[in-house]
Formats: sequence, C-alpha cells, structure tokens
Amino acid sequence: QELEMEIEMLEKGGYNHFMLKEIHEQAKSIRECMRGRVYPEQGKIALGGIASFDGLLKNAERIVIVACGTSWHAGLIGEYLIEKYARIPVEVEYASEFRYRDPVIRSNDLVIAISQSGETADTLSAIDLAKKMGAVVLGICNVVGSSVSRATDGGIYTHVGPEVGVASTKAFSGQVTVLTMLALYLAQLKETLSKEERSNCIHSLWKLPEFVEEALKCEDQVQRIAYGMLRSRNCIYLGRGCAFPVALEGALKLKEISYIHAEGYPAAEMKHGPIALIDEEMTVIFIATNHSYHEKIINNIQEVRARKGKVIAIVSNAGGEVAALSDEVVQIPHSDEFLLPILAAIPLQLLAYHVALIRGCNVDQPRNLAKSVTVE
Ligand code: G6P
Repeated sequence: QELEMEIEMLEKGGYNHFMLKEIHEQAKSIRECMRGRVYPEQGKIALGGIASFDGLLKNAERIVIVACGTSWHAGLIGEYLIEKYARIPVEVEYASEFRYRDPVIRSNDLVIAISQSGETADTLSAIDLAKKMGAVVLGICNVVGSSVSRATDGGIYTHVGPEVGVASTKAFSGQVTVLTMLALYLAQLKETLSKEERSNCIHSLWKLPEFVEEALKCEDQVQRIAYGMLRSRNCIYLGRGCAFPVALEGALKLKEISYIHAEGYPAAEMKHGPIALIDEEMTVIFIATNHSYHEKIINNIQEVRARKGKVIAIVSNAGGEVAALSDEVVQIPHSDEFLLPILAAIPLQLLAYHVALIRGCNVDQPRNLAKSVTVE
C-alpha cells in the first residue's frame, strides 16, 4: 500500500493531483504536439499522418467533425479556425447524435473524429457509420494504437502524453493545437492565405508554449478567486466567436469536478434566457479575450452588472473598460487571436481545480464520471 502511494506521488511529479500536473504540463505537451510538424523558418506545416489525403483535403466540400465531451468543444474551436483560414465549411456533431441521425455524407465530405482515449463508444460507432457511407475518416487521437486510431484511414496524434485526470486539460490544448495546425495546413494546400499571412501565423503558433507558461502564472490569483466561489451554486460562462466553445469548456470543467451547476453560452444569447437567472448570487465568467468583439462584450458585462451579478473577466489586454466593470480580472498574455482559445482555457482549468479542491471534492476521480466511456 505504502509503495503504491509512493509510486503514485512519483507519477504525479510532485503535484497533489494528476489534473494539476497535467495543467502545468501544457507548455511542454504543446511543444511535443508541434514537434516535427511546425516549421517556422520555412513558414510550413507538415502533417505526415494525413499527407496521403492531400488531394481530398484540397477539394473537400465540407468537413464533419464528430466527438464527445471536451473533444467536441475542441472540434467547435476547429470549426472557427478551419473556416477562417481554409474556407471549408465545417460542421461539428456530437458522435452520439450523428450515429443515430441518418446523416447526409457526400463523396467530397471529409469526416474527422476527435478522441483523447480513442475508445469512446459513440465516437467509434460514428466512425463506422461514416465509413459505411463511403467517407474518408481521419482521427485526432491521443492514445497511440487505440481503437479510433485503428478504425480511421489516417490521422494526427496529439502526442501530449498520458492523461490521467478524468477532467481533460492537456488533451484539450493538444487537440486545439492539432486543429490549428490542420487549419493552417489546409490553408497551405488551398492557398487561402498569402505566404506572408501563413508564415506570420506559423511563427506565432511556434511561440504558443511560451505564452502558455506565461498564462499559468495566474494561478495564485485564480486560487484567491476560487475562495470567493466556495458557496456559489450557479455559474454562467460567456464568450463570443471562438471564445464561446472556451466558455462551454470552462463550464464543463467546473461542473465535472466541483459539482457547481455551470452553463456556457454565446454571450449574445444571454438575453434569450440566461439573463433571467442573474441576481446577486450569480457569478458570470466572461471570456473577453477576443480583440474583435470588445464593444459587444462590454455591453454584455453591463447587462450583468445592472442585475447585480458578480463578474469575473478573462482578458488579454490589461486595464480598459472590461477591467473597470469587472469584480475580478484575470489577464492572459496578449497574442494573436487564434491562439487565445488555448490560453483562455488555462485560468478556467485552474479555477475549476481550485474550487473543487476548496470544496473537498475528489479532483482526479469525480463522482459518476469515467475517463473513457466505452459503453453507450
Ligand atoms: C469522458 C471524459 C471526458 C472526455 C469524453 C470524451 O466523458 O470524462 O473528459 O472529453 O469522455 O472522451 P474522448 O476520449 O473520446 O476524448
């Protein structure tokens, strides 16, 4: 028993929980994920596992992404990135819905399955169905040799190393990194970006691990904020653009491990329902990192304040109006907008961790949840 405990401590690398270790590993794991794929000097992306499908990738009329849980959130970010950079329409589906929906798949559609474990039953069935319908299916997977990696025609491993904590953290940032590389790779094939634009993006992407290191420095502040949420019963996470899936992911992290009810919404949808819930007991977390939606986010924050809700804002620019309007402001590094989903997720992962810890929850093995869901 003692030996087992010692081994576990060693595996946790000095951290109290796997989740915290995995959060802190993200600079390193993203570097591993980009190794041999991102070439800043040449302004190029190389993705060996899908290169044989270049013809299809270039001519794909549509990309359908299937996934579950956190992987589905990563897919939603992928949708923004691929549509923006490669101008290919993307649909993101829950694998469980796709498999039972009699979906339309045409010959020039490409299906991409995202799964950390590579063993999720619904995702595997969705892959089977897509293949039966004649689609080429590519995988974005973490576990080498897993069922998803074997069932797909090709793919891109995230290579972030084993993830033990049930709440996915470094796998998520790895998946989004892969999808970012994929979006830029497609842009390279289709020449949808100028050489200079692409090269600038690739240079910034290469620096992502440094930004991640920087973002992790918010932990002490986030821990303090977590104490303020000890008795919260509800939280709303809001974001616009690719900060919206980050809001979904932040809310999922909090509910998974701290058992506080949390919902993620596109900020503009607040007025169609969630605004009715806002009073002095509601905490609203704004992912206000995107440069593009600044004015709109300020309006949304004002709407929450007017109803006495507590506002926590994640920003990438210090000071400014958002800071003045918020009860708490967490700053992540200022970087290109397409890197912000990964950076903005970091304080949200840390917040969920610290709230759960303070509330005495089992962080690594939350009740009723499994790391990989191999049954329907
Ligand atoms: C479970 C896990 C989640 C994960 C989801 C999908 O619900 O608890 O963390 O996001 O399955 O798993 P996959 O391995 O397919 O990414």
